[in-house]
Amino acid sequence: MESSLLLTWLCVFAYGHHVSSLLTKENIYQKMEMVRENSSPDLIPAYGEPLSVGLTLDLSSIREVDIARGEVEILAMRTISWTDPALSWSHDSDAGESGSENFVSSFSMNTKYLWTPDIVAYNAIHAPELLSPHIALVAASGRILFVPNERIRFRCNLENFENAEGSNCTLKYGSWTYHANILDLELNQNLFSTSSYEENPNIELLAVFAEKNIRHYACCPDAYPDIEFTLNIRKRTNQGNLFGLNWKK
Ligand SMILES: *[C@@H]1O[C@H](CO)[C@@H](O)[C@H](O)[C@H]1NC(C)=O
Repeated sequence: MESSLLLTWLCVFAYGHHVSSLLTKENIYQKMEMVRENSSPDLIPAYGEPLSVGLTLDLSSIREVDIARGEVEILAMRTISWTDPALSWSHDSDAGESGSENFVSSFSMNTKYLWTPDIVAYNAIHAPELLSPHIALVAASGRILFVPNERIRFRCNLENFENAEGSNCTLKYGSWTYHANILDLELNQNLFSTSSYEENPNIELLAVFAEKNIRHYACCPDAYPDIEFTLNIRKRTNQGNLFGLNWKK
C-alpha cells in the first residue's frame, strides 16, 4: 500500500514534465555527475525569497501508546518537496513523442549530495528511525521529492485516552534553523493522509487533522512556521465495538 502511494506521487510528479523537459538516457549520467561534483548540501536553494517546502504526513500505523510515559509511536511516511532551479534541465523541443522512451524526466540521487530541509518533530523523544533509503527524486523542473518512511516516537498527554473523546496527540514539525523569511512551509489541502493506515486492534483512530502556524519565540525576532499533525485516539474496547455503545467510565 505504501508503494502505491509513492507510485501515484511519482506519476503526478513526472507527468507534468513529461513533454517539456527531456534529457536522454546517455546524458542523464553526465547531469548526475555534475550535480554530485557541484553539490553544496549546506546551501539552501533560496534565491532572494523564502524557499517553499511542502510537508505532508501519511500515517501507516500506530505502534504503541504508553499511557504511563505519555508517549505514542507511529509509522509514517513524510513527503518533503521543494524546488532548486539550479538542478533543473532544459527541454529538447525537437524531440517528438515517439522518441520519449529515450528521455528521462527524473533521476534518483543520494540525499548526501543535496541540500535537504532540516525539518524535525519538536516533540519527538528520539531521532526518527529511518526505514527507507536516503534517496530523493529530482525532476527536470528542479522539484525534489524526498519521502522518508519513519518510525516516530513522540510525547503526548494521554489523560483522555480511555475516555470517549480520546486524546489529541500532536506531532509538531518545523525547520530547526530557518525562519519564515528563508524557509516557508506550504499549506496544502491534504497535509495529513490516512490512505495507507492499518487499524490497530487496541487503538481507535477517531480523527486526524493538521494545521499550519506561524510563531514567534523568545529567542529571536523572526517568525517560524510549523505544521501540527494531530491524531485523535482512544483505547478500543471489545464491548464498544460489539454493541456500538458509547463509552462509559
Ligand atoms: C481535540 O481537538 C479537537 C479539535 O481542536 C477538539 O474539538 C477536541 O475537543 C479535542 N479533544 C480533546 C480531548 O482535547
